[in-house]
Amino acid sequence: MTNNLLKINWQHWLERWDAQQSGYLPYREERFQVMLDTIAYLLPKSFTAIDLACGPGAISQRLLNRFPQANCIAIDYDPVLLAIGQGVLGTMGDRLRWIEADLTQDDWLEQLGEIQVDAVLTTTALHWLPIDRLVHLYQKLGQIIRPGGVFLNGDHLYFPSHLGMFQRLAKAVQTQQKEQAFSVGNQEDWEHWWEAIEQEAELKELLAERHRRFQPRFTENEPTLAIHEAALREAGFREVSTIWQRFDDRILLAVR
Ligand SMILES: C[S@@+](CC[C@H](N)C(=O)[O-])C[C@H]1O[C@@H](n2cnc3c(N)ncnc32)[C@H](O)[C@@H]1O
Repeated sequence: MTNNLLKINWQHWLERWDAQQSGYLPYREERFQVMLDTIAYLLPKSFTAIDLACGPGAISQRLLNRFPQANCIAIDYDPVLLAIGQGVLGTMGDRLRWIEADLTQDDWLEQLGEIQVDAVLTTTALHWLPIDRLVHLYQKLGQIIRPGGVFLNGDHLYFPSHLGMFQRLAKAVQTQQKEQAFSVGNQEDWEHWWEAIEQEAELKELLAERHRRFQPRFTENEPTLAIHEAALREAGFREVSTIWQRFDDRILLAVR
């Protein structure tokens, strides 16, 4: 880490990140807890997990704190979010490894090396991927998760188009949650969080790198729950179903 980066209060940015994410997801901590409870039931005490599209490492932090014999590999393509995670968490006693890679390309697999893992966990992220990339990613997860291992995806996984009323209900709830947090509660949202961190002079180079490398990509037709389930079965996961749900915010569990 360069001298400039040593001056940054990473903890401050991580706390602001967690706060803004919880504005969108009032049940965010409960969702993490259910994911980790599932791991506690299904895996031995010592295991290796991947935190996929980790951002500043919310899953890695909670997982390694809860399971002292576990190791984790955190993967994301955003240099700023990775720097925050590394700044606060470091390697958590040599148990956390960070990989900077774009999940729409296969080079993250090369960086990962020839290993199989026991679990892959991801939150609020895979809706960013175009459907063909998501299906391809699930194929790769089917190869790197060992038989008996698990995949857990906590995200908005949408109702199908023939359930129009369900879709409208889920959207209305989401809109109301956002209003409650950001208009009534005056919490910082995603845009304002980025606007604020853009002012951090010490991060100038990393921010410029982020701008050079990519613009956030939003997928127009985000895949429905049924697409996730079908793609995971196709990738070799033998049991796939929702284990927790608040309207269309779910945890999908797939057992390899
Ligand atoms: C809303 S954040 C969630 C981060 C973290 N999982 C959490 O729950 O706090 C979405 C994350 O997905 C990452 N992401 C999106 N597309 C990606 C891609 N193609 N490759 C790697 N990371 C990606 C973003 O950089 C961002 O960190």
